[in-house]
Amino acid sequence: MTPGVTPLVAGNWKMNGTAASLDEIRDVCAGLDAESTLPHETLLCVPSTLIERAAGVAAESALAIGAEDCHEKESGAHTGDVSAEMIADAGAKSVIVGHSERRTDHGETDAIVQAKAAAAWRAGLTAIICVGETREEREAGKAQDVVGTQISGSVPDGMKADTTVIAYEPVWAIGTGLVPSSDDIAAMHAFIREPMASRFGEEGSLVRILYGGSVKPGNAAEIFAIPHVDGGLIGGASLKAADFLAICEGIGS
Ligand code: PGA
Repeated sequence: MTPGVTPLVAGNWKMNGTAASLDEIRDVCAGLDAESTLPHETLLCVPSTLIERAAGVAAESALAIGAEDCHEKESGAHTGDVSAEMIADAGAKSVIVGHSERRTDHGETDAIVQAKAAAAWRAGLTAIICVGETREEREAGKAQDVVGTQISGSVPDGMKADTTVIAYEPVWAIGTGLVPSSDDIAAMHAFIREPMASRFGEEGSLVRILYGGSVKPGNAAEIFAIPHVDGGLIGGASLKAADFLAICEGIGS
């Protein structure tokens, strides 16, 4: 954990969830609210179709609701897209940008991710900027090069620690059950911190760097205890309230 920062446990529902899933959000809120103090902030990023209802369910609770992507423009002729202003209007507080599934499925480049992060700030949202190498890149010894390039190209100028989160998600660890060694996670998080701190000064020293990729109830405490890990971005295991709450318990345990 970085001294002086409040860790964040964030869920990413991806393309999952309908009205029937709102009960899981209700259960997460109840579980969080049963704690007298929470050592972390908690966020669930849900599909656009659920933001408004999820935010309604989570109102008055310790859970914030976020979105999974946004368009970089405020409005216009972009059929099917949703702007940062629209998701803020629906009740989102944060938005994930540059998730590897967006980079792969939709060809999103660092420049697009950077524009989306700036759009998030424009709309008053926190931008959760994702980076991470593929298995081939790691095996070729290029993981740091790849992540360093993503960091410099995806984070806009003017970054502030209270409206930005970096998520390191090795592509090969997402949804696979594979997790890098603790040493590899610690090394990559320390590596990411360096250019953030040198480019943005204190803001870069304080920005939260989350780990994501196959975080589960059984490994969360171990991962959150790794130096320089300021919380997690949780995919599959955030879909069930009991699992997500168990992962939250891993902070500070
Ligand atoms: P996972 O996904 O926890 O299911 O591996 C993480 C993510 O894609 O954010």
